[in-house]
Amino acid sequence: MTVKTMEDLFVETLKDIYYAEKQILKALPGMVKKASAAKLKEALETHREETEGQVGRLEKVFKMIGAAARGKKCEAIEGILAEAKEHMSDIEDPEVLDAGMIGAAQAVEHYEITRYGTLIAWAKQLGHDGAVELLEANLEQEKNADRLLSKIAEATVNRKAAA
Ligand SMILES: [Fe+2]
Ligand SMILES: [Fe+2]
Repeated sequence: MTVKTMEDLFVETLKDIYYAEKQILKALPGMVKKASAAKLKEALETHREETEGQVGRLEKVFKMIGAAARGKKCEAIEGILAEAKEHMSDIEDPEVLDAGMIGAAQAVEHYEITRYGTLIAWAKQLGHDGAVELLEANLEQEKNADRLLSKIAEATVNRKAAA
């Protein structure tokens, strides 16, 4: 599809985050399995469940604006997830691996936060009020996940890995 209007750009970017969320959904179970710290395991599992809901909200947004719910390959998320996988196959020390996975997961959250921020601004501009609400719900969950990961890193993982 050729992007000509703001509406086109909005739909293309929605497809980008839809693809990203689905890739994240596929990657999270492996990270849950590899995590050692109980708090990290739990946080990743909770966010996996939240991500299922996020995909559902995005499908609602597609429906609202009359576009087909289809993903568009997002190289950015592919790259971030590839780094996470690299950590998972390269790092043997479980505590160092936890720290590496937290870093990768936070890179994912920050990517999602920037995408949702942009989409919300454009949805407002285009008058897609219902979409704004759904996108804001996803953004809130990404911000919470990011904050929780920071907390876990500060409280346990990083300190132990440095010992
Ligand atoms: Fe997400
Ligand atoms: Fe997320």
